[in-house]
Amino acid sequence: MSEVKRTDIAAMFDRISGGYDLANRLLSLGFDREWRNRALCEAAPLPGERWLDIACGTGDMIEEGLCTEPGSYWYGLDPSFGMLKSMRERPRLAGVPRLVAASEALPLRSSSFDGVTIAFGLRNFEDRERGLREIARVLRPRGRLVILEFLPSEQRRWGFGTLTRLYLNRVLPRLGGWITGHRDAYEYLNQSSRAMWIASHLHDVLDSAGFTAVRMQPMMMGVVTLTSAVRA
Ligand SMILES: C[S@@+](CC[C@H](N)C(=O)[O-])C[C@H]1O[C@@H](n2cnc3c(N)ncnc32)[C@H](O)[C@@H]1O
Repeated sequence: MSEVKRTDIAAMFDRISGGYDLANRLLSLGFDREWRNRALCEAAPLPGERWLDIACGTGDMIEEGLCTEPGSYWYGLDPSFGMLKSMRERPRLAGVPRLVAASEALPLRSSSFDGVTIAFGLRNFEDRERGLREIARVLRPRGRLVILEFLPSEQRRWGFGTLTRLYLNRVLPRLGGWITGHRDAYEYLNQSSRAMWIASHLHDVLDSAGFTAVRMQPMMMGVVTLTSAVRA
């Protein structure tokens, strides 16, 4: 993907940022909260730890992180200014530092975080390998990475499930378009889900990016996968 593409993606998220939260709740039938909750149980932030939520969007994961462990420190990073602006409007997140940046070039010191979370953002990375190497760089040794993503498994690569396909192809673009007024954005989200790596490939890339103890837990019959790994 080119630099133009990265700008396009950020601009697309800028456009839908106003209706994003409502669309998220409705399109996931409210399950997105449960998925984030499971991710944070896996992440298990401790008091005083520094956590970075990459592709933080409007800050759902950070809000959940602060509920899970109020003594942890959270930072949000996203290339979409519009999404970060919506995050700022949430009273509980007013004091959370926000960085306008992409995962591929993190403007952060090496080994400066105890943990990183990414919820439904990995598929948008312009260069996923590079993004994951950057994440390994900013994590301290034994730091944790937790990823939530629509990640097809090997067996389901071409048979992702008739219902899931029908939902992604037909329902998501229409409903997402109706709520936010930007159907093109939800068509992109559908395409990006289909273009996502299979689970075993993500496992391999994490291994070579410097992670160990990679664990993948399919949720909701494999529609969403919770991946966790530790910086070697
Ligand atoms: C589907 S939203 C997910 C937002 C949030 N994490 C959530 O769970 O609701 C994907 C986010 O990825 C961000 N994004 C796009 N390209 C990115 C990149 N190269 N690096 C980091 N984030 C990126 C978008 O701006 C958008 O906010």
